[in-house]
Parts: sequence; structure tokens; C-alpha cells
Amino acid sequence: MISNKIKEGISGNINIPSDKSISHRSIIIPSIAKGVSEVSNLLFSDDVLHTLEAFKSLGIKILKEKNKIIIHGNGIGSLKKPHKNIYLGNSGTSARLLTGLLSSQSFNSTLEGDKSLSSRPMHRIMDPLKLMGAKFDNSSGTLPLKIIGRKLTNAKIEIKIPSAQIKSGLILAAINTNGMSHFIEKNITRDHTENMLKSFGADIDVIKNGSDTSIYVNGKQNLKATNIEVPSDLSSSAFFIVAALINQGSKISIKNVNINPTRDGILIALKKMGGNIEIKNKRTLCGENVADIIVEHSNLKGCELEPEMAQLMIDEYPILSIAAAFADGTSIFKGLGELRVKESDRLELIRLNLVRCGCECEIINDDLIIRPSKVYNPIENNIRTDFDHRIAMSFTVMGSKIGNVIINEADSINTSFPGFIEIFNNSGGNIS
Ligand code: S3P
Repeated sequence: MISNKIKEGISGNINIPSDKSISHRSIIIPSIAKGVSEVSNLLFSDDVLHTLEAFKSLGIKILKEKNKIIIHGNGIGSLKKPHKNIYLGNSGTSARLLTGLLSSQSFNSTLEGDKSLSSRPMHRIMDPLKLMGAKFDNSSGTLPLKIIGRKLTNAKIEIKIPSAQIKSGLILAAINTNGMSHFIEKNITRDHTENMLKSFGADIDVIKNGSDTSIYVNGKQNLKATNIEVPSDLSSSAFFIVAALINQGSKISIKNVNINPTRDGILIALKKMGGNIEIKNKRTLCGENVADIIVEHSNLKGCELEPEMAQLMIDEYPILSIAAAFADGTSIFKGLGELRVKESDRLELIRLNLVRCGCECEIINDDLIIRPSKVYNPIENNIRTDFDHRIAMSFTVMGSKIGNVIINEADSINTSFPGFIEIFNNSGGNIS
């Protein structure tokens, strides 16, 4: 597809799809609760549909009714052995969370994924699970992964890598394990699993102690079926927020967006760059903070972000880098090593594609340095996505400003944001 220059900015009320992280958990947690849970506004993207199919294959009755899904959970430890391997497509969240949950079940199972997911590290979740007695038949540290289901023992584990996927996998293993497990997080990561488990009545306590967070999970306690309404995704909103900030004449509003403080780094960073972003109607929905966001075109300035910010906005660096490419002055984003093991090597693809667009950009150690051009003269207008949805959408936004940006594939966008092209064009974008 080609992303062409837009003339009059983007405008209107933008209907952003539901949150991907919360949608995964809205299938997993009701499936192990006792009773019927109704989930409104689930995100029907490829990643989430893989989680949904996985739970159907684990014996859970899941029905679709208009914009709701109805999940008939049978309680913790009641999942059934699947008849075949569980295919998870591109979804790292499904892979890490299911590894935890399935390692404490009474049957063996095998997880598989697409080419990108099959190259992503699984040791990061297998190693801490082994401290609870988990067993795997796998030497590569990547998918396919055979999980030898067995009774685990509760343990005290310090989580070495800042990752909500690892933390959530451990919590889901502990939920089906006798006794109190204790996980210690050194860095803040998104806490949707903890929030949702609390609203399902789980015996889970989160205690802050300086920069550490202790999560205590008392396993084998019944979860009570609960209805969920999934808010809009801040990560998906970010593409429109940046498109509005960099394109003259733009003014947009996005309603009902999840602004969980473990995930709102992109708003902090863009405000620091001078973005005119207003957060209104703050409220709580199913244990999560939500709000409406109003954004107007702004003259941005470059900024420096410390590594601590990475945990609060790891998925947003590709689109933040586009904002930085149109700011006044250099930006330095530090400590981005984790970006190398996402759906693609995002750190390298940001650099490579920005350079192709005519922006001076380099990586020193794990820091990204962006020196914007006054006028963009692309050296090549072809964007390499390596089938990464966030790279594809970020450089679509780049194209809205410099014009004629060719994105070599658009199918990956369905991973998180079905309807992106149509919504972007309806708001003033020009993708052909
Ligand atoms: C996610 C956690 C993040 C994020 C991913 C979704 C989740 O990964 O990059 O898109 O839903 O838990 P890590 O926590 O492993 O960094």
C-alpha cells in the first residue's frame, strides 16, 4: 500500500478498536473462572482470535452474540487436553501467558506460532517457571514448545526481565498451584492480569516496596465469573495521536481509552515534546483507568527519555520515533534493548526505515538517536516491515506527512488493528 501526503490534517471522533492486552486476558481469565462471563467489545484481531481458538481447543464453550462473547468457565484446573497442537500465529502475549497456565495443568500440550513468533525467546518464561517445577520438552528456547503439564510448587521468584508477559505467565501458573507464590518485580510493567484477577475475586495482593513490587498469589482459590467491558487501546490510539500532532489543521477526539498508569508513557513523552493533548472524563471501568483524549496539531520539540520510560511505553517507540522525526531538535530514547525481541527487531527497523525516509537516525548500544530533517528527501520510499503491525502503521503515519511511502505489506496490521486503513482514510488520511 502507499501512504500519501494529507493536506488538511485528520479530524473527528476516532473509533479506536479495543485493547489487545486486556482482550487476551478477557478470554483467559473467564475461561478458568467458575460460571458464565460476558465480554463486551472484545478486540477481534488476529492475535486475540488465536487466544480464543486456543481456549475452545482446551474445552471451553465460547459463544459469540452481537458485540459480546459469552464464556462458560469450568473453574481452575478444568481445562481439557487439546486434540492437536495449539497454533498462536504472531501472538507473543498468547505464547507467554499460555506457557504459564498450561505448565500447571494435568496434561501435555504443544504451542506453535508463525515465523516471527517462532524466533522469539521463550526461555524468559520457561526458566522462572522451572523454579516452580515446570517441565518442557524443548532445547531451542523457541516455539514449537512442548509443555509437560504437572503439579507445580509455590515459590518466591524475582523476575529478571521487565515483562508483563513473563509476570502474567507466572501468575497464571500460580493460580493453579497450591499455596502462596511470591513474585518480585524490579521494574513496573503493565498490570492488567493483576487487575482482572482481583475483579474475579482471586486471592492476589500487590505490595509496593520502594522500586520493587511484590505480587502474592494464593493458588487453587475459585475465580468468580464476572462481566467485562474492554476499553479502547492506547497503543492503537497512538498512531492517530501522532498523526494529529504532526499534521497541520488536525483535531481529533478518542473516547474511552485505557490509560492504565503502567502503560501511559506515550502520553507523558508526547506532552514533554510539546504535544497539545487533553485527557478528559477520567473514570474506572472493570478495574482499569479510562478517559477521553483530545489532540490538536502541535509544534513538537525533541526530547531525551531515560530507560525507565521504556517499560511504560515499550510498544510505542515506533510511532514516537515518527513524532521525533518532525520535532524541532534531536531526540534520544535510551535503553531500548527489549525492542529487538518484539514482533520484529523493531529498533533496527525504526532506524533503517527512518533513514530510507531521509531522516538521520542511529543506534548507539541500545539508545536510539533521531535528528530530524527540515525537508525530507527519501533515499528509498519502500518500507521494510518484517510483517510487524506497529512498523507498518507507524510508517503509514510518516507517509501522511512526507507522501509516497510504500509499505511492502499491510496484512500484519490485522494483528492488532483491523480496519486501520479505513479509519485512517475516513479521518482525512490518504492511503491507496
Ligand atoms: C504485553 C506486554 C508487552 C507488550 C506486548 C503486550 C501484554 O510485552 O510488548 O505487546 O499483553 O502483556 P512485554 O511485557 O514482554 O514487554
